[in-house]
Amino acid sequence: MNPSRRFALLAERDINRETFVDPWPEAGLTVTDSPYDPQPSLKLEQGRVIEMDGKALADFDSIDWFIAHHSLDLAVAEEAMRTDSQSIARMLVDIQYSRTDVHRLVSGCTPAKLCDIIRHMTVLEMMMALAKMRIRRTPANQAHVTNWREHPALLAADAAEAARRGFAEVETTVRVARNAPLNALAILIGTQTGRGGVLTQCAVEEALGLRLAIKGLTSYAETLSVYGTEQVFVDGDDTPWSKAFLASAYASRGIKVRFTSGTGSEALMGQAEQKSMLYLEARCLLVTRGAGSQGVQNGSISCIALPEALPGGVRAVLAENLLASMLGLEVASGNDALASHSAIRKSAKLMLQFIPGTDFIFSGYSAVPKRDNLFGGGNFDAEDFDDYNVLQRDMQVDGGLRPISEAEALEVRRTAANAMRAVYDELGFPPITDEEIEAAVTAHSSDDMPARDLVADLAAADAFLESDVTLLHIVQALEKHGFTETARNVLEMGRQRVAGDYLQPSAIFDRNFQVQSAINDPNDYAGPGTGYHMDGARWQEVQAIPQAKSPQEFIEANEGTALENLAEIGPAAAGTQAEVVVGVGPAFGTALTSTINGLSHEDVLKAILTGIARTGLVARVVKVYHSSDCAAIGHVAARLSGSGIGIGLQSRGTAVIQKRGLAPLNNLELFPQSPSLTLETYEAIGENAARYARNQPTTPVSVKIDNSARLRLIVKTALLHRRETDEVDPNCPPIELYFNWEPA
Ligand code: 5AD
Ligand code: CA
Repeated sequence: MNPSRRFALLAERDINRETFVDPWPEAGLTVTDSPYDPQPSLKLEQGRVIEMDGKALADFDSIDWFIAHHSLDLAVAEEAMRTDSQSIARMLVDIQYSRTDVHRLVSGCTPAKLCDIIRHMTVLEMMMALAKMRIRRTPANQAHVTNWREHPALLAADAAEAARRGFAEVETTVRVARNAPLNALAILIGTQTGRGGVLTQCAVEEALGLRLAIKGLTSYAETLSVYGTEQVFVDGDDTPWSKAFLASAYASRGIKVRFTSGTGSEALMGQAEQKSMLYLEARCLLVTRGAGSQGVQNGSISCIALPEALPGGVRAVLAENLLASMLGLEVASGNDALASHSAIRKSAKLMLQFIPGTDFIFSGYSAVPKRDNLFGGGNFDAEDFDDYNVLQRDMQVDGGLRPISEAEALEVRRTAANAMRAVYDELGFPPITDEEIEAAVTAHSSDDMPARDLVADLAAADAFLESDVTLLHIVQALEKHGFTETARNVLEMGRQRVAGDYLQPSAIFDRNFQVQSAINDPNDYAGPGTGYHMDGARWQEVQAIPQAKSPQEFIEANEGTALENLAEIGPAAAGTQAEVVVGVGPAFGTALTSTINGLSHEDVLKAILTGIARTGLVARVVKVYHSSDCAAIGHVAARLSGSGIGIGLQSRGTAVIQKRGLAPLNNLELFPQSPSLTLETYEAIGENAARYARNQPTTPVSVKIDNSARLRLIVKTALLHRRETDEVDPNCPPIELYFNWEPA
């Protein structure tokens, strides 16, 4: 068999760098509906659960036990379990039922029941349900800020830029664990320089994470992982109770807590007990709720490539986000780890969370380039910022980000890097040099940074962690060096931690440092015209991408001083001689002086006349005033021409060769792609018109086809056409022009 060239090309496409696998339920490799998943059931006796999802109390594992005792709202459980799953699925998309109606009922559902509801839903229905069930009205976004050098000035600069770009939470992590306190410090100072109120965390081993939090360096903790099978918990030296205890430890110190779970982790760790990924995730979510966490980071997270390798994987990941919000949890909905090589696939997947909106559309948008992302890549990264801003602008969807100018980015990066240096100086850490500051301001990645002495930095990090240096020393250092605003914001973060308002469900700070949560900003979506709408100042901000030009800018370049050698003589009469009449549009050589691809009208006219003259024929030039339409201009030129052959030429350069007697929209040759026309083409057009006039055999002029021209130039085309149309005078007859030119 000869290989297909098309299949060979398809094999090279990004999508074919992915891994796809057939389901294998016995290994946990099925996203929903494993044949081993239990059927929903719940039996109560004297107000206590004695059977759940087909399992008797005596057979409960610790997760079953935790769910039965801490997660299910037994007051509604019997009603919920009695209600047919399809009816609950319908309530989710029915605007007659409110978020709280559904939430109340769902609070009594077992893990298998939750999966049974999802069974009835398409991705579209789940997106509609997510728009209603998300707990905070205003969507937001979370960023990853890391770099492989763990450079403090670069971390601070990138965190500041991320804050400016609109992220409500910024998290970092470590390459070398001992760097944690300095990395946490860098993104604290950076974010508070970019915008006061951005929450920060440093994802590290749990005891260290808690120490950083207690020291005041972080304000949220997210990587409290839970799993859907007991054995995975055991392997991690954990239980649902130990996680609940850790959550309380954080919360008691004013740290916002969010658990992490997601499809695929149990299969990855070889302990899926033959269950589907979604069923195990439903268990995780009930553990999360039972442990008192206000929210969850889910959507497979670090395991995302596993469900994505399976049929229905992306749908199942949306389902887990939806289940979490149905349970009243804040959702940071994944889209974080590298999940696809394909720009089409990664964007399509994103839409499932982006369009409905979630509390955090990304649970980690890589605000640094992928190669600097220590969290495992980053499905969207700093190189996608402009694409993302355009998606928000295209759909009028609030994705939590805002476009910023280069100048704004440079300025805030410089301030943050310098603030970091000031704190390093005051605390006696290894100095940050001028060269490092300059590099951090303009850097794209670690590669642009000079090396630091890692040993000295690590020693400083150890000492810092052990010391009794607190947030207040940092505030003092910032203040002393004139970083007043950063100092005030860092201090305010400390004050807010004591107030604890941001421990409310789904809390973030708005731009005025006010808590915005599911309590004071509850999602009230109830169908068209309700819920969150991006409008007013926020919509203005999203529209104002720096790449957008004013319409006037598109026209300016084609205006100019009117041609001095082109004069109006008077109304044009019909000719009788063998000639070609060149009809030009009403703005030609006056209001506009060049074509869309920048050829001067003078040169274009010369080229056409040169082409005609080459055959020995004469030409007349006529300006058409009553229309700006190319066909109409060509039609008039042909009608006035003694030979019956005319050329129509719009100011933007579109041309037609027309013959008297043909219908206006029929013609001899049309050149609609003005951007592809060169002076040589115009000369050939003139020559061909003359050959038609002489009744000579004529090969149509060949023009290069450029299918992207319309894409690139349609705005300019429309605006130039409008400008020409402005010059139309319906009552003015065609005017004969005198063009004073010398053949080249
Ligand atoms: N389930 C549970 N925890 C997860 N994490 C990432 N993905 C999952 C998942 N599917 C946690 C891990 C990791 C951190 C980034 O988030 O603890 O270290
Ligand atoms: Ca995260």
